[in-house]
Amino acid sequence: MKTPSTVIAALLSLFSAAVLTAQSPRIEKQPFGKTADGKQVFMYTLKNAAGMQVKITNFGGRITTVEVPDRNKKFDDVVLGFNDVQGYTTGPAAGAYFGAIIGRYANRLAHGTFTLDGHTYHIPTNEGQNTLHGGTVGFDKKIWDVKETSTHGEPALELHYLSPNGQEGFPGNLSVTVRYSLDSKNGLHLDYTATTDKDTVLNLTNHSYFNLEGAGSQTILNERIRIDADHYTPVNSTLIPTGAIEKVAGTPLDFRKSTVIGSRINDDNEQLKLAKGYDFNFVLNHPGDLSSVAVKVEDPKSGRVMEVFTTQPGVQFYTGNFLNGTVQGIGGTYGHRSALCLETQHFPDSPNQPNFPSTVLHAGQTFRSTTIYRFSTE
Ligand code: GLA
Repeated sequence: MKTPSTVIAALLSLFSAAVLTAQSPRIEKQPFGKTADGKQVFMYTLKNAAGMQVKITNFGGRITTVEVPDRNKKFDDVVLGFNDVQGYTTGPAAGAYFGAIIGRYANRLAHGTFTLDGHTYHIPTNEGQNTLHGGTVGFDKKIWDVKETSTHGEPALELHYLSPNGQEGFPGNLSVTVRYSLDSKNGLHLDYTATTDKDTVLNLTNHSYFNLEGAGSQTILNERIRIDADHYTPVNSTLIPTGAIEKVAGTPLDFRKSTVIGSRINDDNEQLKLAKGYDFNFVLNHPGDLSSVAVKVEDPKSGRVMEVFTTQPGVQFYTGNFLNGTVQGIGGTYGHRSALCLETQHFPDSPNQPNFPSTVLHAGQTFRSTTIYRFSTE
């Protein structure tokens, strides 16, 4: 027969189990410093049941940390990041978009100009004569509203930002939501939605810098990459697409078979010279197909693998050519080609390129895209 005390003990353990369930998803919130104009920002830590840990700040919606295991179950941070908001806004780091949500227009707009519905719009030029990553103050420097939530019991963070009509010259009040969530198989999901009250153009991405050996490791040149793309969009000397869509076959941009990143990066190739390494938009073979692997990166040393899945038509593969060792982050010094970006996106400069898929978002329409970065080992 059960004594009252065993009944109470059983009830207590049921109660604490319920509390634990209610506590998951595991999200912790901490102060992340103040912006130059004195606004407090926060950092949110998401953990999944497998121990993967992702930190995100509402300053620019930036991913600051992604901790995943290597083949010996040792966890390391595989993205470049900083310990507080000042790290992101001071010195050369301020122009490198570490971990950030990029908008309204990811990558370049030629001469900061485009025409839509018969009206010509001018966006501030912040890279020579062109606009890069949304203008002088893009989404990477905005403070986003945050909602802590969950998907299938795993933690999720919903970031929201309302970009007013005319901000950085873009038309329409644009309401953007980026939902970051973890799954139980070490997948980091990024779901973007946006609506506008006036026709506009839009290209959203995330600008995380990955090094699967661990942030602060010297190079990504020994890592291998496979990109499911038969074509890419070549660029001119200011890294604006020429408008052509060319075959990767026979060039050092052919990553249809897994290839060591550094094996051809210094080849005598005009495009590689213009971009100072890899910095190209690859035209994915299976746009819209979330079940096919768009990109696979493997680090032979740690055994870590990252697969990228996306509904977007393109991916910018960038080998950190502008990093130069002057930036000190959580992982140490971030040197030349010590990380790579895989920015899933619409093609650069699409508003000025009639043969590229359209980036127009019409008033009343909803833009949706999803990208998953999935980590495993081999
Ligand atoms: C993108 C661009 C690069 C560079 C980085 C930021 O990847 O394509 O040329 O501007 O962003 O440093």
